[in-house]
Amino acid sequence: MSNELQVKADFFEVLHDRHSVRSYDPSFKMTDEEIRSLLEDAITSPSSSNLQPWRFLVIKDQETKEQLLPIAMNQQQVVEASAVIAVLADVEGYKQAELIYGRTVEQGLMPESVLTGYVARLKTIYGEKPELYRDTALIDAGLISMQLMLAAKARGLDTVPMGGYDAAKFIEAFKVPSNLAPVMLIAVGKAAKEARKSLRLSVDEVTTWNTF
Ligand SMILES: Cc1cc2nc3c(=O)[nH]c(=O)nc-3n(C[C@H](O)[C@H](O)[C@H](O)COP(=O)(O)O)c2cc1C
Repeated sequence: MSNELQVKADFFEVLHDRHSVRSYDPSFKMTDEEIRSLLEDAITSPSSSNLQPWRFLVIKDQETKEQLLPIAMNQQQVVEASAVIAVLADVEGYKQAELIYGRTVEQGLMPESVLTGYVARLKTIYGEKPELYRDTALIDAGLISMQLMLAAKARGLDTVPMGGYDAAKFIEAFKVPSNLAPVMLIAVGKAAKEARKSLRLSVDEVTTWNTF
């Protein structure tokens, strides 16, 4: 990275130190290359049938961030952070099956017969009921969002995930195609103030063993 950020290598430190930062140094700008590198790490995320339905809209120009501000309830991090990455889910992501599995076959990672079977199965499931894929795409987009935030923290950066925005206005203002569902906005940048402390319910409060 072309700055003096502290890169954290210890996974558990990254995990426990990540908290939502809502105040950023506005003079700190990530380069396109740095954002690309962050996304390269994030896209190692798993996805159902490896269909990778996540899509990103990187909002980096100051003017565009200003445009997003009122749509995101005037949350100041939108304009102060280096970038806001909108994570979107392609609710028609199953249509990418042939492309993805085709490349997988080309690279010798899957026999052609498996490709044919997979594609046929997906066509049966989602061809008749495409709405069934929506939840799957949203789950996959949630997983990648977490990876993105941890990958940022490992680079000494901070993030805040945001659901506090008007999705309809966001879709209109940013001309989001109809197959993409906005999942969350993630502001990323260099913290100006530490995150507020937050607590967690205990493992015992959220865990049941074997059956309910
Ligand atoms: C899906 C989602 C939406 C969120 N939306 C907002 C938001 O709009 N604004 C905000 O300041 N924080 C938002 N948060 C951050 C949560 O408030 C925060 O993750 C939670 O309080 C735990 O704190 P921590 O992230 O600092 O550990 C959101 C978190 C998630 C996962």
